Amino acid sequence: MTIRVGILGGSGYGGGELLRLLLFHPHVEIAWVTAHEHAGRSVADVHPNLRRLTELPLLPMATPESIGRLAEEADCVFLALPHGRSMELVPYIPDGVKVIDLAGDFRLKDREAFETYYGKPHRAPEHLNQFVYGLTELHRAEIARASRVANPGCFATAVLLGLAPLVAARRLVGAVIADAKTGSSGAGAKPLETTHHPRRANSFFAYKPFAHQHLPEITETLARLSDESWSERLLLQVHSAPVVRGIFASLYLTLAEPMTAEEIGDLFRRFYAEDFFIRLLGPNVSPDITWVKHTNFCDIGWAVQGTRAVVFTAIDNLVKGAAGQAVQNMNVMFGWEETTGLTWPGSHP
Ligand SMILES: NC(=O)c1ccc[n+]([C@@H]2O[C@H](COP(=O)([O-])OP(=O)(O)OC[C@H]3O[C@@H](n4cnc5c(N)ncnc54)[C@H](OP(=O)(O)O)[C@@H]3O)[C@@H](O)[C@H]2O)c1
Repeated sequence: MTIRVGILGGSGYGGGELLRLLLFHPHVEIAWVTAHEHAGRSVADVHPNLRRLTELPLLPMATPESIGRLAEEADCVFLALPHGRSMELVPYIPDGVKVIDLAGDFRLKDREAFETYYGKPHRAPEHLNQFVYGLTELHRAEIARASRVANPGCFATAVLLGLAPLVAARRLVGAVIADAKTGSSGAGAKPLETTHHPRRANSFFAYKPFAHQHLPEITETLARLSDESWSERLLLQVHSAPVVRGIFASLYLTLAEPMTAEEIGDLFRRFYAEDFFIRLLGPNVSPDITWVKHTNFCDIGWAVQGTRAVVFTAIDNLVKGAAGQAVQNMNVMFGWEETTGLTWPGSHP
C-alpha cells in the first residue's frame, strides 16, 4: 500500500528531516511540499543533502482554504510550521485526511496552559480534543486509532522517556529536576539573535527558567501516567549547548525506597520490552548525543546511590524529537511496522 503525503513547512529543519526520511519510505509518495519565504525554489536547492534525490518544488502557502484543497490530494498531512500556524490551518483540513502536527498547537489538553506558555490565544480550541499526544512508546494504542496526532516537543520526548518507567511505577518522591541541553538546530532554520553562530558557537547558557513551553506537556503526561499532579514537582531547566544536533537530559530523582541499579534496569526493561527505539545502555553508562545523531533512537543510562538516582537520555532533536517520531506515528496510524523507514543507523565516529 502506498499513501500520498503532504508536508507544510518543507523548507525548515523539521520539514527537511521529514523529506529525508519519507523519500525512502516504502509506503509513501510525497504529493506536495510547501514553503513560505523559500516558496518557488526546489526542495533540493533548499536542502542540498537531497540533491539528485528529488525534483520536488516548494509550493507557496496561500490561504487556509487553498491548504484545505491541497490537503484533499493527500492521505496524510505533516505540519512542520512555527507554533501558532497549525491552529489556523487544521480546521481547513478535511476529516478524512490524517494529520501529524510537529508544532505545539495541539499538544496540551489545557487551553489556558497553552495560552500561558505560548503567549497567544488558541484559535481552534474545539479541535484540541481530536488530537492524541504522540509520544509513541506511551500512547501507541491511541495513536493507532487516531486521525490527528500532536507530535511531542523535543525536550519533552527526552525527559518523558527517561521518567516514564519510574513515574508509572510510582517509585519517585519529592521534586524531579530535569536538566536538559539542546543543539542549535532545535531553534529552526531561521536565524535569531540567540541562535546566530557567533553567539551560539563555543558558548553555553540556560534559558526560559520555569517558562519553557514543553513544561506543561511533560506535566500533563506524567499526571496521566501516575494519576497525580506534577506541576509543583517537576523543575525543567533547558540549556543551549554548542552543538548542532542532539538533546541530552540528566534527570535527578529521589526514590521512595532504595533501589539497586539492576532493579532500575529491570524496571526499564519491562516497561520498554516492546520498544525498538529505546536502547537501554545499562547502569553507570552515559548515552552520547553522537550515537543517536540522525537516528530515531533514544539512548538511556542510569546511576543510583541508595534513594538518589539519575537517569540520562539522549536523542536527536530533529529525528526522535521531531520528524522521526512523526514518521513512527504515521506508521502506527496506518498499521505498518513501526520501524518502517526508520532503521537507518547513525554514523561512527
Ligand atoms: N527543530 C527542532 O528540533 C524541533 C523539534 C521538535 C518540534 N519542532 C517544531 O516543529 C515546527 C517546525 O520547526 P523547525 O525547526 O522545522 O522550524 P523552521 O526550520 O523555522 O521551519 C519552519 C517552516 O515553516 C515555514 N514558515 C515560517 N513561517 C511561516 C508562515 N507564516 N506561514 C507558513 N509557513 C511558514 C518556513 O518556511 P520558509 O523557511 O520558506 O519561510 C519553514 O518551512 C515548530 O513548531 C517547532 O517548534 C522543532
